[in-house]
Amino acid sequence: MCRPSRAGRFPSPQVLSLSLVLLSLISLPSALSWRPWPTPQGRGATNLTDSKKYEGSSEFVRLRYHMGPVLTANVTVHVIWYGRWAPRQKRILRSFLRSISSSSGPAKEPSVAGWWRTVRLYTDQTGSNVTRTVHLGREKTDRRYSLGRRLSRMSVQSIIKGAISARTRPLPINPRGGMYLVLTSDDVTMEDFCGQLVCRHVKANSCLSCGLVVCGFHYFTFPSIVGYTMPYAWVGNSATQCPGICAYPFAVPYYVGNPPRVPEAPPNGDVGVDGMVSVIGHELAEVASNPLINAWYAGGDPCFPQEIADLCEGIYGTGGGGSYTGQMLVDERSGAAYNVNGVGGRKFLVQWIWNPVVSYCSGPNALDQ
Ligand SMILES: *[C@@H]1O[C@H](CO)[C@@H](O)[C@H](O)[C@H]1NC(C)=O
Ligand SMILES: *[C@@H]1O[C@H](CO)[C@@H](O)[C@H](O)[C@H]1NC(C)=O
Ligand SMILES: *[C@@H]1O[C@H](CO)[C@@H](O)[C@H](O)[C@H]1NC(C)=O
Repeated sequence: MCRPSRAGRFPSPQVLSLSLVLLSLISLPSALSWRPWPTPQGRGATNLTDSKKYEGSSEFVRLRYHMGPVLTANVTVHVIWYGRWAPRQKRILRSFLRSISSSSGPAKEPSVAGWWRTVRLYTDQTGSNVTRTVHLGREKTDRRYSLGRRLSRMSVQSIIKGAISARTRPLPINPRGGMYLVLTSDDVTMEDFCGQLVCRHVKANSCLSCGLVVCGFHYFTFPSIVGYTMPYAWVGNSATQCPGICAYPFAVPYYVGNPPRVPEAPPNGDVGVDGMVSVIGHELAEVASNPLINAWYAGGDPCFPQEIADLCEGIYGTGGGGSYTGQMLVDERSGAAYNVNGVGGRKFLVQWIWNPVVSYCSGPNALDQ
């Protein structure tokens, strides 16, 4: 059941070690974030007039609507901070979430709100678009690792159950637009997070999973566990686990480049958390356009949907694709790489999203729009 990966996403095989070639033959299961392999030095210079113009475009992409709902009502994101989180780390991620539809005036372009505009191009059967409004709702902290430090996919639902049924300040249940975002600290391991190259059954959705590295995933809660059907996402801090993949390009795998490629500086000074921003953006875009895994995805198999962010994994700017990130912006003060501005003068790097109108990946920092 492991299907070949998307064509045209990887650098030419001769520049890769054998292990990378093997990896490129594996496709990842539903709703997972996946990272591309960095460009070896000397490649990646792009030319707007060449065939890389349409980032991510491919004759193989058949993104279709499968008649399910999209999130058209105002979305309220309830964050559950699992494990140990520094206030500084929480501030970075809250700022990103608040920037999606900032009410405190628009951020400088290109902005996080401009990035969300691509997600809003998705509609349901009635022609209603994905909402423009994403609020940060009440939060909950699970400092005591209530389900331990080794989590499985199913235990994420138990964490949510614990948060909505807590005796003090339980999280609200809001089936109209509510969703849960479970963020785990870097000392928590997730089944498949930095996993082996193996295929196994994932009980959560009884799809065969070819696990490699999972940076985040989204799904919906089961009434039998949580009592309601609500969308949720999980994203882990990868600072100590596979940062070269989940926090790329702020960390790079040791085997890439000769001499090794130098990581980009993170815009908020935290490799793991700055890397999470893009994974959180990825999962939110997919929750909004495919909350119950029956709306927008490519491919015929709902167990392996290629969703609107999967199709643009690793593309952050014009010319991106293959193994090249595309043209990012550079923070003049810190030298950090970023592509969008958020509220309060913050900067973030967030991957592009598949644009259904033009059929390629797009983002607000495109040079050719
Ligand atoms: C881009 O392509 C044009 C036309 O083929 C060529 O003249 C130009 O030198 C190229 N630029 C780069 C940076 O490759
Ligand atoms: C809603 O989606 C349609 C179809 O993609 C698009 O043409 C339109 O611009 C979208 N509206 C907004 C407000 O984004
Ligand atoms: C949705 O959010 C907008 C602000 O973006 C607000 O004006 C509107 O009242 C909200 N709608 C509901 C139903 O809460």
